Amino acid sequence: MKLNVVTIDGPSASGKGSLARNLAEYLHFSILDSGLLYRVYAYFHNLNLGTEEIPLLIQKDISFKFNHKDVIVLNDQEDITSELRSEKMAKKASELSSLPTTRENLLSIQRNFYQNKGLVADGRDMGTVVFPEAKLKIFLTASVEIRAERRYLELQNRGQEVNMLALIEDIKQRDLKDSTRTLSPLIPAEDSVVVDSSDMSIEEVLSFTKKLTKGIK
Ligand code: C5P
Repeated sequence: MKLNVVTIDGPSASGKGSLARNLAEYLHFSILDSGLLYRVYAYFHNLNLGTEEIPLLIQKDISFKFNHKDVIVLNDQEDITSELRSEKMAKKASELSSLPTTRENLLSIQRNFYQNKGLVADGRDMGTVVFPEAKLKIFLTASVEIRAERRYLELQNRGQEVNMLALIEDIKQRDLKDSTRTLSPLIPAEDSVVVDSSDMSIEEVLSFTKKLTKGIK
């Protein structure tokens, strides 16, 4: 049976997060930012917590607060969002994400985000592994340069220091790692719609994908 899920997969900084939030608001669906979950995993790993403890702590202490503009992550009562959004945490998440234990530990947590009302899930393997039965699968991509520019502005807006060349290099490295790993590599699901947003504005991507959601509810 097909699930009331829209999956949005694609490389780093392709605009998945913003598209996911907009579509979730439009459809009145819940949302899963799976990259953020991988970053939470990396955050706990950096605190030297064991792989058995981490999933339990995620379920006990971590909460995601969504609003139209952003996602806020609370560890108990502490807001850890900006730490999670740093390039350092992205790198650590990317490293850990190629390990089978990490992916196994996060699989059921991710699936639990799906409740009756419907879900928009963004990440790398939402359509291929986590929600293969999703009604709509989108693969969102853009050139490395455009993605680096978007990430640069995003990090700057968050008040973080960024070096453009280093950012391009980081994104390239992460793309390579994400798409060549054996487990859940970043590839479009066979039944996905591939959207290259290099020459599209956020509004154009949104209006195109809104049309794809017709009949999903
Ligand atoms: O999307 P975001 O940049 O926040 O993801 C951080 C890292 O987590 C990615 O580089 C990727 O290695 C990993 N990830 C993953 N599978 C997902 C989501 C994220 O492997 N579904």
